Amino acid sequence: MKILGINGSHRKGKNTAALLKLVLEETERLGCSTELLELADLDIKLCIACNVCLKQSRCSVAGDDMAMVEHKLLEADGILLGSPVYWSNVTALMKNFMDRSRYLHITRNLLAGKAGAAVTNAGLLHGGQEATLKIMEGFLQAHGLHIVDARNPNTGIFTIGVVGAMMSGFKEDKAVWRRSGADDELVQATSRQLGRNMVALIQQLSGASKMT
Ligand SMILES: Cc1cc2nc3c(=O)[nH]c(=O)nc-3n(C[C@H](O)[C@H](O)[C@H](O)COP(=O)(O)O)c2cc1C
Repeated sequence: MKILGINGSHRKGKNTAALLKLVLEETERLGCSTELLELADLDIKLCIACNVCLKQSRCSVAGDDMAMVEHKLLEADGILLGSPVYWSNVTALMKNFMDRSRYLHITRNLLAGKAGAAVTNAGLLHGGQEATLKIMEGFLQAHGLHIVDARNPNTGIFTIGVVGAMMSGFKEDKAVWRRSGADDELVQATSRQLGRNMVALIQQLSGASKMT
């Protein structure tokens, strides 16, 4: 089982990467191989809206890293997206990746049937995490992936998902900050749960495909 993580942060290896790594580590513990792509490292040109992809599963923009990303997306059993909240939305890097992936979706959903999940980190508490998470999950769903949430199937405990924040609270008229978005018990628990749920769904899907 392969899980591909994609980080849309403009700062590689920071808070969003830390959250992605928590989830990926849990899937590794359960036997998966993982890879984390940092979009900040890659050259992915802007979509030019030529609409070639309306007729064929192909993109007219060439000579950048999208072909390599496509290969890794197609190979993966699970795709885990991470983006920090920028203006209650995903980052420009993540949005650009989404736009460029249109050719994998529009004539035929080439990523359909995989497991998909998302994590996000913001500066503030209630800083737009929920909207950002839903944008990534909606994108994965449009691509035909099965969305995994962080619900614990035994206890039923459920949060909206893996949502980190740099702000941990408020004291004496001042915001209190944490050093890392991953330095939070709830984030750690939900990340591990998300990893477990991803692996369980992939196992379930591969069992189902063997039967058909
Ligand atoms: C352009 C920009 C827009 C941002 N917008 C928001 C926002 O709407 N809400 C929020 O809580 N934090 C916002 N932030 C803060 C980031 O979400 C926060 O610093 C996050 O932890 C960065 O993740 P990283 O460490 O992976 O880069 C913004 C930061 C930048 C640079």
